[in-house]
Amino acid sequence: MRFYLTTPIYYVNSTPTIGHAYTTTIGDMLVRHQRQRGADTFFLTGVDEHATKVWRVAEEQGLEPQEYADRIAVPWRELAPRMNAEVDFFLRTSDEGHKAFVREFLQRIYDNGDVYEDIYAGLYCVGCEAFKTEEELTPDGLCPDHLVPPEWIEEKNYFFRLSAYQDRLLALYDERPDLVLPDFRYNEARSFIAGGLRDFSISRAGQPWGIPLPWDESQVAYVWADALVNYVSALTYAHPGEDLRDRFWPVVHHLLAKDILRFHCVYWPAMLLAAGYEPPKQLFVHGYLLLDDRKISKSLGNAIDPLELTGVYGVDAVRYWMARAISFGHDGSASIDGVQERYENELANDLGNLLSRTTAMVVQYRDGSLRRGEATAPLDLSALGKDVADRLDRFDVTGALVAIWDGVRALNQYVTAEAPWQLAKDDANAAKLDGVLYNLVDGLTALAVALAAFLPETAPRILESLRQSADLGWERVRNGVAEEVDGIAAAKPLFPKIELPAATA
Ligand code: MSP
Repeated sequence: MRFYLTTPIYYVNSTPTIGHAYTTTIGDMLVRHQRQRGADTFFLTGVDEHATKVWRVAEEQGLEPQEYADRIAVPWRELAPRMNAEVDFFLRTSDEGHKAFVREFLQRIYDNGDVYEDIYAGLYCVGCEAFKTEEELTPDGLCPDHLVPPEWIEEKNYFFRLSAYQDRLLALYDERPDLVLPDFRYNEARSFIAGGLRDFSISRAGQPWGIPLPWDESQVAYVWADALVNYVSALTYAHPGEDLRDRFWPVVHHLLAKDILRFHCVYWPAMLLAAGYEPPKQLFVHGYLLLDDRKISKSLGNAIDPLELTGVYGVDAVRYWMARAISFGHDGSASIDGVQERYENELANDLGNLLSRTTAMVVQYRDGSLRRGEATAPLDLSALGKDVADRLDRFDVTGALVAIWDGVRALNQYVTAEAPWQLAKDDANAAKLDGVLYNLVDGLTALAVALAAFLPETAPRILESLRQSADLGWERVRNGVAEEVDGIAAAKPLFPKIELPAATA
């Protein structure tokens, strides 16, 4: 079992936003989960430096592009650790290993006869870093995504013969109905291919910033022809002396949002075929996380960069909100105040209280000792584990979290229904009381393991409070996993009340 996941490599024309954090964080949940299932995993992210817009920002700031990129790469490198995302490698397209590999990769396409020279005369949107046709523009001639007029470019370029790959791409899509998920994105990509493909320029003549083409050093690789290749190049130099392609190509899953679907679902598989590589195993195209109000938080009373929410609520609360606030895969609008609401109602009340009540009752009625006792378990935890795993295999991140949360709520209902405080009144119920307390600890143990990919700080704290093993192996999501232990103490609140800073606005 091998699982290689990538995020897009982000443009460094400005600093990271909550939107970039969203893809990286959800990617981390998927990878952590597969690791819990025993997969050999690799998680790649990084930055895309050779864009025209990056070069222009550097110029505006009076810096050499490389110097500018070196400076701004710092906050980008910190993005994953800030979200507690464990990446295996952070790639920069200015890495020597990447640059050398891109040249070799493009040379292979050239040698296969899929590159030719022509004059490009047409429109280019620097925001998209993409060539545009008239039909793609608004009636006023603007780029529909950036609402700015594209620039006219006329230069000698090298073109990739994408049109020659139409039939092979259609055959690939027909053979592999799960190549692109969700289904509606598969259909979107397939109909784009079926509608006919135009060759695209893979070089830029008028820009000095980029990777020179091996067969004509007067031109640099077009930024997408450089950036997409990162998904393979990283494997050749991330671990010096080791070629990770043997382990992780083509078992790759690309995670991206819908803005860059064509590049990933159409251009990239064709480029791989042209260079003699297998196409990726799967691409998952998610929607946009739109914030109803980008900066102002009602509960915090002032402007806040959404990324700073981690400083107020902790990383796990923001991770939880990302997975839960909008249905992963679809567009959705979320509010910053949703973090506060979910923190109080779901994290503190549903989960935090369940742990507090459970441990408090084990202390009060059993002096901290857990015994198996005799009571029917309220949840089929193996079935829950299978459901969650199946959902995460399909990238149904929100559905998986909801399924776990249904388990949390079911345990809370179990407490109410079994009323341990009543059972404790009569010694004749001793075995039943033990059993009920055991089922609560057992359920919480299994649910903590299931939650570990989403809440990597909280899950180990739950296991520790219950004096259960820290092992996060997925086989532990089952009934009867909890050990009989002594010395359970009343747990401190998992999600304490937040003292909100006084409003300044
Ligand atoms: N550099 C290219 C990608 C090259 S990959 C070979 C690029 N960079 S980007 O900085 O614009 O990043 C776009 C990606 O950032 C989206 O596809 C998505 O993964 C993520 N997102 C940025 N804002 C987002 C939201 N508001 N919501 C969801 N995802 C967001 O395109």
